[in-house]
Amino acid sequence: MKTIGYGKANGKIILMGEHAVVYGEPAIAFPFLATKITATIQSCDSFLLHCSYYKGSLEDAPETLNSIKVLINHLQTEYATGPLLATIESTIPAERGMGSSAAVAVALTRAFFDFIDQPLAQETLLSYVEQSERIAHGNPSGIDAAATSGQDPIYFTKGHPFNFFPLNIDAFLVVADTGVKGQTRAAVKDVANLVSSNDGQEIMRHIHLLGALSKEAKEAISENQVQRLADIMNEAQQHLTKLTVSNQLLDQLIQTALATGALGAKLTGGGRGGCMIALTKTKKEAQVVSQALEKQGAVATWIQGLGVHTYA
Ligand code: PMV
Repeated sequence: MKTIGYGKANGKIILMGEHAVVYGEPAIAFPFLATKITATIQSCDSFLLHCSYYKGSLEDAPETLNSIKVLINHLQTEYATGPLLATIESTIPAERGMGSSAAVAVALTRAFFDFIDQPLAQETLLSYVEQSERIAHGNPSGIDAAATSGQDPIYFTKGHPFNFFPLNIDAFLVVADTGVKGQTRAAVKDVANLVSSNDGQEIMRHIHLLGALSKEAKEAISENQVQRLADIMNEAQQHLTKLTVSNQLLDQLIQTALATGALGAKLTGGGRGGCMIALTKTKKEAQVVSQALEKQGAVATWIQGLGVHTYA
């Protein structure tokens, strides 16, 4: 056993296919390396948890941290380590569709295995994270666990294995937080109601078109076609608007991004709050867009290079 074990994970962003993925269409998720979680595990006299929301005994941690509590209990029982202090430092905002709960579980599991000085296979990691995500989310697709623990974009369709593909596009992604919690559950439910309404056929048409755009986006990314990817993002936003999952706040930020030099922009994740993303050709353009978004009310922005040489 080491004195202290370290583990890391990153955030995730859904580039394309949110909501449509619920209906069997493909989607694309990116590891979002601009936001990170670091966890440490060390021996202690009693079980303690230190994070920005809470500092105290693991047992008395609030219910919102249940998935962490269960994960640590599970790991320490299995490996009989005795009492532990777990610390978590995060720049991934919670409840913004960035996969923060999965990332915490990834970082903690990695820290734990580093602490006991044992190798950790990816499948073992994903199975611990899945158990933790079941408590946090009920029925996780596994995409957050895969995207927050890996380096490559993921093309995925419900019920099929993940398809990792290389990021090969010389562009920059600006991510802006509306400051409002995403409303994934409500939005998914409302889309389901629309699907079974009189407009159902028209709604399904938008859903299939979103799926087709995910396929095209994968091609555009593999062939370094920045303008094509931007056009695809703009088109996707129109379909997502028809699904009623955008809102005024997101629309305003999207307009601002397009007016200040972004080639494409859309919401990301569940919608009705949460985050939006914008694509630019250069880092300088990304900085201009990100400043404009903050002026327009975004509470935080991040820039991630997507090209082979800038993705870090
Ligand atoms: O807001 P997020 O990142 O949890 O993404 C939700 C994605 C949806 O397609 C809207 C729902 C889902 O379960 O896939």
